[in-house]
Amino acid sequence: MRLLIVSNRLPLNGVEKDGKLVFEQSAGGLVSGLSAYLDSLKSTSTQDIEYVWIGWPGITVSDKLQPEVKNVLEDLHASPVFLSEEAMDKFYLGFCNKIIWPLFHYFPSNTIYDRDYWLHYRDVNKIFRDAVLAVIKPGDVIWVHDYHLMLLPGLLREKLPDTPIGFFLHIPFPSYELYRLLPSVWGQEILRGLLGANLIGFHTAEYAQYFLRSVLRILGYEHKLGQILSQDHAVKVGTFPMGIDYQRYHSSPSGSEFEENLKELEQLLDGFKAVLSVDRLDYSKGISNRLQGYKLFLENNPQWCEQVVLLMIVVPSRIGVEHYQQMKRQIDELVGEINGRFGTLNWTPIIYQYKFLPLDSLLAMYRQSDVALITPLRDGMNLIAKEYVAARTDQTGVLILSEMAGAAKELGEALIINPNNLESIAEALQQALIMPKTEQKKRNQVMQQRLKGYDVMRWSGDFIQELLQVQKEQSPTLPLGQHKQTLHTYFQEAYKRLLLLDYDGTLVPFADSPDQAKPDPELLDLLKALSTNADTEVVIISGRDRANLETWLGFLDITLVAEHGAWLKRRGEQWSLSKPLVNSWKGQLLPKLEMYVDRLPGSFIETKEFSLVWHFRQSNPELSAACARELMDELIPFTSNDDIHILQGNKVIEVRNSEVTKGSTGLALALKQDYDFILAIGDDTTDEDLFTILSLEHSWPSGLKPKTFTIRVGTDKSKASYCLPNYLEVRNTLQELATGKDRTVGGIGVNA
Ligand code: UDP
Ligand code: G6P
Repeated sequence: MRLLIVSNRLPLNGVEKDGKLVFEQSAGGLVSGLSAYLDSLKSTSTQDIEYVWIGWPGITVSDKLQPEVKNVLEDLHASPVFLSEEAMDKFYLGFCNKIIWPLFHYFPSNTIYDRDYWLHYRDVNKIFRDAVLAVIKPGDVIWVHDYHLMLLPGLLREKLPDTPIGFFLHIPFPSYELYRLLPSVWGQEILRGLLGANLIGFHTAEYAQYFLRSVLRILGYEHKLGQILSQDHAVKVGTFPMGIDYQRYHSSPSGSEFEENLKELEQLLDGFKAVLSVDRLDYSKGISNRLQGYKLFLENNPQWCEQVVLLMIVVPSRIGVEHYQQMKRQIDELVGEINGRFGTLNWTPIIYQYKFLPLDSLLAMYRQSDVALITPLRDGMNLIAKEYVAARTDQTGVLILSEMAGAAKELGEALIINPNNLESIAEALQQALIMPKTEQKKRNQVMQQRLKGYDVMRWSGDFIQELLQVQKEQSPTLPLGQHKQTLHTYFQEAYKRLLLLDYDGTLVPFADSPDQAKPDPELLDLLKALSTNADTEVVIISGRDRANLETWLGFLDITLVAEHGAWLKRRGEQWSLSKPLVNSWKGQLLPKLEMYVDRLPGSFIETKEFSLVWHFRQSNPELSAACARELMDELIPFTSNDDIHILQGNKVIEVRNSEVTKGSTGLALALKQDYDFILAIGDDTTDEDLFTILSLEHSWPSGLKPKTFTIRVGTDKSKASYCLPNYLEVRNTLQELATGKDRTVGGIGVNA
């Protein structure tokens, strides 16, 4: 198997040094986590996975240099996506880091909703799509990462319907109240883009819940146990807390550099307790709060002056964004103020470095620090916290961790603080510095076991396994695409054809209210074209009432079936009941449904001769889901009455007569003449009766089963043999049958 990892940033970052382009390690949790996983693939021969990492090389590369850069990176399993300075300015600094990053980290006031940024975001996602298409081979699995590329799964899905595509978000997904601040078209497009994946992963169950809620509120898709049925495939939403390469942090690197780092630090910190703070320079990391908390700690605990040192590493990040520059100034000032106020000739309270540290130096810091102080205001995960715990080989050391970090969900034995509460930071520092070693070990032991058990290899392994599983579990109903040729052949070779077509959701899209879903001229022309041939009988088999069907379609030379089979009007004849039916139950049930109309704003009742329908398409989706469940509960006792059947359809609950179904009426029609080809298309549960009955051998006189093609619209599990994504594709398919076009072999259509 070959894995295509796609992320905005490659693990190697191009920088210009002395007029030359050199590549250094990129910063951030995404790169360090994935690199550890990919390194492990290289070192274990048991896993038969190859990979290519597709992403931006961190710098604008001139056209002339691009082939050379490509060659250099290719040897390192990397495939660069070259982007212009303007694109990086508007896409990366703009849309990604002035809109999505602040909004998803609960800083709505830092967002700048610039349309130009959005347009570049769309363009760059398309550039990434083309980059993937340029390298993909059959059998590859695609794994897209993070907020820069949220449209990419959808863009890829359009071109690669059968490829497993996974997406992982490395940052928080915000609550619906925040997500909805995005201009609605952007918000919808992003959710649709994400739903192009087969599997969408988040660090915590909360982020997954927030995502599902936004999908429900904005797109109206409900989920069943984290599974969403989007337009043409099932999408699984899951929680995969990213781990670290535990052994890498728990063992000591060979080589003298690490030892030297350790010694240097030992000398520097001799006689002091060390508190460590490491982050990218980012307002989400709560660095100012941390400094304020440390200041308060020194004020409240003067006995610790000249006894403790805060080792603060800040890694440069996103220099082009104004809020980051502002923060840098703020931190510089605060460090100066604290060092000036408390420092003495023998003691600097904060040792501050503004640079990226390689693993050896960072590991030495973890080993030499008594406390790690990690106080993000919001953080998707925070790997530093995990790395610190793993690095404590003697199991001492105290982790102080913000409850706003995803990692806090797994590291409950840390001292958990709220970063907005400076007192709690100061108190936690005091508690950490005096914590007995036995207690430190007790806490760390548990956390280490957890981190060891769910490391980054497990994280990625689980994700990939689940992705392949979800792909396999897709409905056994086959997409019609590759089988269209057979359909055309059957249709063309048949002497007598029967087309049983559902109406709503199959030939027309759903409308807010049923009377708005009128047939448009294109549909009427299509039905006329199909029915001009005397050897093709077109039947509209619908749940609608007969008056409605009569007004909209009564003038066509076709057969109409209303109320799920209760009423029938054969081609050229009058309406008649398909069998004698009772409807005395309606009076008893109507008041119940009316009660729910009062309870759920926007819902209403449609009354037909042999059924009652409660519609809630226009209502608040969450409220309607709850009300629908309750109503179903309330109606269940009535199903013991043999005359009625209750079914939950697409945003409707329908109570109808149970003696006839689309299946019984459809089969009766099919048996009336010696059809040798039957096509049935429908989109909901009522059509399933038809699909089932048509597929059964014993429905037909022995040896006389006609060639049958059943097609379900959408992705729900179905008894139909094939599926199509939506009504537009149904129309296209019928159009092709009517005109005989789009066939690979020549042949006749109904008009020929
Ligand atoms: N890191 C590093 N050198 C540094 C600072 C950080 O290699 O000087 C690595 C660190 O080991 C960790 C990652 O950068 O793996 C930071 O990930 P985290 O999830 O904590 O934060 P992010 O930067 O992704 O927001
Ligand atoms: C976070 C994001 C990553 C990003 C990293 C560094 O970890 O989730 O996607 O790569 O920060 O940020 P940068 O803007 O330098 O890529």
